Amino acid sequence: MKATIAVLPGDGIGPEVVGQATDLLALIARKYNHEFTFVEGLIGGLAIDQTGDPLPAETVAVCERADAILLGAVGGPKWSDPTASVQPERGLLELRQHFGLFANLRPVKTYPALVEHAPLRAELLQDVDILFVRELVSGIYFGARQEQGDGDESHDTMRYNRAEVEQVANVAFRAAQGRRKRLCSVDKANVLASMRLWRRTVVEVHEEYEDVALEHLLVDAATMHLLTRPGSFDVIVAGNMFGDILSDEASVLAGSLGMLPSASLRADRFGLYEPVHGSAPDIAGKGMANPIGMFLSAAMLLRYSLQLETEASAIESAIDAALAAGLRTADIAGAGEEAVSTAEFAAAVKRHL
Ligand code: IPM
Ligand code: MG
Repeated sequence: MKATIAVLPGDGIGPEVVGQATDLLALIARKYNHEFTFVEGLIGGLAIDQTGDPLPAETVAVCERADAILLGAVGGPKWSDPTASVQPERGLLELRQHFGLFANLRPVKTYPALVEHAPLRAELLQDVDILFVRELVSGIYFGARQEQGDGDESHDTMRYNRAEVEQVANVAFRAAQGRRKRLCSVDKANVLASMRLWRRTVVEVHEEYEDVALEHLLVDAATMHLLTRPGSFDVIVAGNMFGDILSDEASVLAGSLGMLPSASLRADRFGLYEPVHGSAPDIAGKGMANPIGMFLSAAMLLRYSLQLETEASAIESAIDAALAAGLRTADIAGAGEEAVSTAEFAAAVKRHL
């Protein structure tokens, strides 16, 4: 098949892991006879430096002509002055909103090869296989705000409407139907009005999915349950900010934030694929970033946007094989294990492919 992929490397370790991912996709194309065209665009801090805008119109145009977007990471200390008029993160948020990518899928699995070195006891990590479905284009991230520069007060607003909750709940229930048929909805309905609407709506949508068992957790309790009984969760649906926080917490279950991929989708096949980790400025340019989250994101791109399931699984198996062979980047190397570089790990994945 022919596909055009918009490639937005961004900041920090973004370019390092994205470069490896496009190489991997090019290999997939050769092996399975596809024609992938990669078109690069600027986003984030680099885009601010070069154009003054974290999401230049040219980048949006590149993405509009593409079948899917592959993104590295945005942000870094260079642009983190809180009084600056524009932050690199705005570029990513605008991109998600522009394309209406309301459903952010973040799968979290424990890798048997990494369990021994995990910060949680190995027996707790048995059978961890969670799919987070995070609402991505509304909630407090996009509610009315008042910026006060360096003044003494400012505010953000958490708001949801029924349609927004319905559409993300539908994605979550359908995902649960294709998995172990359990959905946990996370809210703060005991305190926040917007979260009472969230809970009521999820309960109503549930009527169409009677084969799925629905559980509700308040977000504070959810943070605890995630660490005390991670194996009991199947799909977890949450609003924009709670989903952001819980998915970082859940990365501990996978061994490292560097392991987690994500897909941001709307109702058609178009999507944005990015690792959950950020720009990691402390290790940028050192060639030591873990490319797994990025590679798994590329696999999700093949699966969801291009419907190439065989190719997606081939990438996932090659990563498993590289881990099983003992290769570890620094973030997942245990005491006494030697760490390999981003390039060495990527080369091993390509060999296994
Ligand atoms: C994420 C990130 C982003 C978010 C930032 C970089 C804007 O933390 O994708 O989880 O908060 O959504
Ligand atoms: Mg986050």
